[in-house]
Amino acid sequence: MQAQCQSPCAGRDAVKNAVHMSTRRILVTSALPYANGHIHIGHLVEYLQTDIWTRFQKLRGHHCIYMCADDTHGTAIMIRARQEGCSEEDLIAAMSTAHQQDFADFHIAFDHYGSTNSVANQACCQAIWTALRRADMIREREIERLFDPQAGTFLADRFVTGTCPRCAAPDQYGDSCDKCGATYAPTDLVDPRSTLTGASPELRSARHLFVEIERLHAWLEDWTTSGDHLQREIANYLSGHFLHEPLRDWDVSRPAPYFGFEIPDAPGNYWYVWFDAPIGYMAATQEWCQAQGEDFDRWWRDSNTEIHHFIGKDITYFHTLFWPAMLKVAGFTTPTRVQIHGFLTVNGEKMSKSKGTFVTARTYLDHLDPNYLRYYYASKLGSKVDDIDLNLEEFAAKVNSDLVGKLVNLASRTARFVTDTGLAASYPDDGGLFAAAAAAGEEIAGLYERCEFSQVCRRIMALADAANEYVERQAPWTLRKDPARQEELIAVCSVALNLFRQLMVYLAPVLPRLASAVGELLGRPITCWDDAQTPINGTAVAPFQHLVTRVDPAKVQAMITTSQQEASEAPTTRVAASSTATPTNDRGIHTTKIMDPQDPIAEQIDYERFSAVDLRVAAIRMAEVIPEARKLLKLTLDLGDHGQRTVFAGIKEAYDPASLIGRLVVCVANLAPRTMRFGTSEGMILAAGPGGDQLWLLAPDSGAKPGMRIA
Ligand code: MSP
Ligand code: ZN
Repeated sequence: MQAQCQSPCAGRDAVKNAVHMSTRRILVTSALPYANGHIHIGHLVEYLQTDIWTRFQKLRGHHCIYMCADDTHGTAIMIRARQEGCSEEDLIAAMSTAHQQDFADFHIAFDHYGSTNSVANQACCQAIWTALRRADMIREREIERLFDPQAGTFLADRFVTGTCPRCAAPDQYGDSCDKCGATYAPTDLVDPRSTLTGASPELRSARHLFVEIERLHAWLEDWTTSGDHLQREIANYLSGHFLHEPLRDWDVSRPAPYFGFEIPDAPGNYWYVWFDAPIGYMAATQEWCQAQGEDFDRWWRDSNTEIHHFIGKDITYFHTLFWPAMLKVAGFTTPTRVQIHGFLTVNGEKMSKSKGTFVTARTYLDHLDPNYLRYYYASKLGSKVDDIDLNLEEFAAKVNSDLVGKLVNLASRTARFVTDTGLAASYPDDGGLFAAAAAAGEEIAGLYERCEFSQVCRRIMALADAANEYVERQAPWTLRKDPARQEELIAVCSVALNLFRQLMVYLAPVLPRLASAVGELLGRPITCWDDAQTPINGTAVAPFQHLVTRVDPAKVQAMITTSQQEASEAPTTRVAASSTATPTNDRGIHTTKIMDPQDPIAEQIDYERFSAVDLRVAAIRMAEVIPEARKLLKLTLDLGDHGQRTVFAGIKEAYDPASLIGRLVVCVANLAPRTMRFGTSEGMILAAGPGGDQLWLLAPDSGAKPGMRIA
């Protein structure tokens, strides 16, 4: 897993020029994505940034591991599972598979990918909890919170909407107003409603457990401002917004029903999702250590180990106040660095479903090469908290000009001429080009280290310009025509290919697949940073194959159009975990419902789009219980002339299967089949209501016949 600097480069003269720090032990994490939604191109800013940094450290020969996991607990997951008609475990298993596939297809290489719903995480939570108790930092208090009597659950702030108490804007969330920016408690809303059921919530009191984080005030003040743990702007933000006054106690428990870990010494109460989520970093490490035979304490209780967290700006205070405080109290290593990035905008605006700019990882991959996005994001990312913009025109232009025009061009114009001969036996005179680029190695490494990836790209492209000028000057395509100048031709191509390879070493963290393709092309794998210090000679050159093709603007447009369609097909119920974890259309999980009555009406569509949905009358012939599925029934539907279908519907809690036989229902007949755990679902039936036992099947009046079209 770890890239090691071995032969052929170790021991060569050129290595002496490189400045080597001793090997560091570095643990790297990205924030744990919520298990209630798919990965989208906004998330990818973070996972690509982290992957690039991690790959860079490995290429430098450091002992670096990249840990991540799915964040699985909390009300959002619980509600989502209800809506999908499956258990929480089924939902998080399907999501974990989908997330990991998305990441792998973007060449994001975790050393371990865990789950916060794991035995290891429960044990780590227990360890930290015990330490907090021992430090006497847990307090118990009765507080009043909003409760949804229909759903039978307390409501997180984001699950309550109502009229803003300050500006009277309707439909505002329970924590803040989009219109005037006011922040308040959900109990302050005028005419509050539960987003789950539309019911008006009641105030109920419940006992909650709090961490007295104020006890670490002085330590946090020091930690946030010393040792380069945080970007300057973040440290200023924390001192201006939080640390200038006593820190409020942190509410870390939720009463049942809640999907999470029950607190052992407070039965009926669960750790709040944000308590156990960062602990998931440790749990993932623990699982990795177990598999590798490594010592956990070397990674989390050793001041020689560096811990680097990469996160987005929206989750700053969890990672810069609570998390370091918990680690400190429990005697674990506190973070070396929390590197915070901004948010993705597309064409200068927030990602938008209706504009088709809310693009999931999978939809991107269905249309475009992941290398494009890896390079484009790298070319935009710096060390600041600024938002980054994906401008679709610039995206195509930059990839085409830099990757295809400057970089790959070096090989595509020369490799073919030396396929029969291989590279020259000794490195020809190149006028100092290779040496100059080799000398830039430490500067480029410094930029990577500081997360200044856009400057890395700029520096490398300047070197590529110089290499291309050389190729232009030497014009190998002309040399080729002259039988007397074949040796010159080999020399020129050997220089061009060595310069190309050298740049690919520098770009290997950004474009790892390309770097390994170049290793194969030139008969020598790229294994370490110092590979850029020494040219390779006499190796065989494989037949040239296209490394990257130009961005096709039609495919970019197709991706946007598809995203727009997906958004209009997606369930419209608001599943609000955070403003970022927006549910998208789901692969592998089937929904059987229509809008809740209190849901906002969806965006307008034209008749054409509506008529694309083929709704048919169907008769239920069989309704089978699947013992392992908590919410699903397996239905056999009769669509008259259109044959029979198997459909899995999440209505087990609402209907006795025997009572369904012979009933007429409404079926979406042209929905693409979906593979689920228990088989393939070949359609979907319509029902109204929030889910669980609150579901009502739609049915035509008597007289309708199976197979009839509904319009
Ligand atoms: N589950 C929490 C993190 C727990 S970490 C112990 C969470 N999940 S998330 O899925 O909403 O976001 C995961 C990461 O992706 C966060 O760091 C978040 O900032 C980042 N991003 C989510 N949407 C983003 C953009 N649109 N743009 C850039 N980063 C974004 O938060
Ligand atoms: Zn307001």
